[in-house]
Amino acid sequence: MYSLTQLPGWEKLVAHRQQNQSLHMRQLFQEDSQRFSGYSLRLPGLLFDYSKNIVTRETMDLLLHLARQCGLDEKISSMFSGKRINVTEKRAVYHVALRNRSNRPMCVDGVDQMPAVNLVLGQMRRFCDRVRSGDWKGYTGRRITDVVNIGIGGSDLGPSMACEALRPFADTCLRAHFVSNVDATHLVETLKKLDPETTLFLVASKTFTTQETLTNAHSARRWFLEAGASESDIARHFVAISTNEQAVKAFGIDPENMFVFWDWVGGRYSLWSSIGLSIALYLGMDRFEELLEGAHVMDEHFRTEPLAGNIPVIMALLGIWHTNFMEYASQVILPYDQYLHRFPAYLQQADMESNGKSVTMDGNRVDYHTGALVWGEPGTNGQHAFFQLLHQGTRIVPADFIASARSQNPLGDHHPILLSNVLAQSRALMMGCTRQEARLALEGQGLEGEALESMVEHKVFEGNRPSNTLLFEEMTPRNLGMLIALYEHKIFVQGAIWNINPFDQWGVELGKKLASEILPQLKGQSKGALSDSSTRGLIDWCMERR
Ligand code: F6P
Repeated sequence: MYSLTQLPGWEKLVAHRQQNQSLHMRQLFQEDSQRFSGYSLRLPGLLFDYSKNIVTRETMDLLLHLARQCGLDEKISSMFSGKRINVTEKRAVYHVALRNRSNRPMCVDGVDQMPAVNLVLGQMRRFCDRVRSGDWKGYTGRRITDVVNIGIGGSDLGPSMACEALRPFADTCLRAHFVSNVDATHLVETLKKLDPETTLFLVASKTFTTQETLTNAHSARRWFLEAGASESDIARHFVAISTNEQAVKAFGIDPENMFVFWDWVGGRYSLWSSIGLSIALYLGMDRFEELLEGAHVMDEHFRTEPLAGNIPVIMALLGIWHTNFMEYASQVILPYDQYLHRFPAYLQQADMESNGKSVTMDGNRVDYHTGALVWGEPGTNGQHAFFQLLHQGTRIVPADFIASARSQNPLGDHHPILLSNVLAQSRALMMGCTRQEARLALEGQGLEGEALESMVEHKVFEGNRPSNTLLFEEMTPRNLGMLIALYEHKIFVQGAIWNINPFDQWGVELGKKLASEILPQLKGQSKGALSDSSTRGLIDWCMERR
């Protein structure tokens, strides 16, 4: 075990940062005409450009040196060899086995997990084929037209993001819906559009104890039965996806209608497991397997490529540089692809639930920052909302731009316009606009004297604002698989360097416990003994009005 801030590599980075306070990316591009090729990496179908960051070769070497001092190579091997690296839950972290398309043995405690993985993939394929072909019928003999995934967090965000992202690859045989929020509005508004005779519910919950999911699932079952179906019809309309067979039985779903996965699949890393059933139903199993293949390509790159050319590693190290040495607090994700509109929300859970930790693997409090605040919106919409702050605000927010060379909807000039905006924004953030350039532009508009002077300062952009650009040839299932796996591994590397456990989530427990204490009070079943006057006052205010 080590203390990160005591490592020689850390101290060197602190000194390096001090020595390069005034470095501007304009200067870096002027001094090195080959900067783009020196600071970009490729995989088939993907270009990762990180040249628009305030880093030099020395910065990258120092970051790589730090990564080695943290034992990153060994930590990557530990994950891929099925070690129980999720120490607080004593579990392996093995989502990579779910997309191991090479099918080489992948063992946990000496037991190859691939036969079980393949068995479930086979079960998913048979089920999807039956539902999509119309062979699986609803209780009145009509084919299924709508699938409703009931789940939350990792049992919702990954599948719903992927279904949206790959909508052009779906055919018309099935519509996919996602209900996550315990606010009844989510379920009620979804059900308004649906017919119980042709609706299939997927109750997706790793634990099958999550309050929101079980509440929604019970209400969906009631809606189904109230429409005239009988208990014995439930089997045709409800399937469960879980690791908890007992709880599935207790809910009343036949284990025959259950798709399993394993405790070595973290919730936010589970879209590759049977939790991805909604994706497979919506797109077809072949497409789902293409998604797995793309992730596998990224896994193999991450596992085998030396650190200096390893895309997730470089991306993670840039994040460490930004968080710990440049002291930027947040990270904006900007997909210039409307189909990826749920990607920032998905990534919020993947990143913030993983690396929002402040205790090291050995139980000590960290004395450095960990996970960044992750947020974002698709371009170009974001440009007309929060980009003002990105360009001229007092806070610097590193950006990840994501786009594809080819559009799924090649309509007129839309795509060249979209791409020109991505490239313009990252260039503007990097270059900025100097006082002299601002003055010249204003003069060009015919301004002079006081009118000109009063505007100059408003037109200055400091620039030097970092970004990565991820370009794909096209957002296919394979490339989406690569994109998601890239971020998963980036998160892993950052957790490895921060020496925290990215695979537990104790921080969500306290709120759940307190909600269970407050609920009976809101239902008027107990008075409770809450010690703080604010919560008491808020409960009383609601009770008086309910
Ligand atoms: O928010 C906490 C959490 O445990 C997430 O990690 C998980 O993805 C989500 O709840 C849903 O959990 P489950 O799949 O067990 O219902």
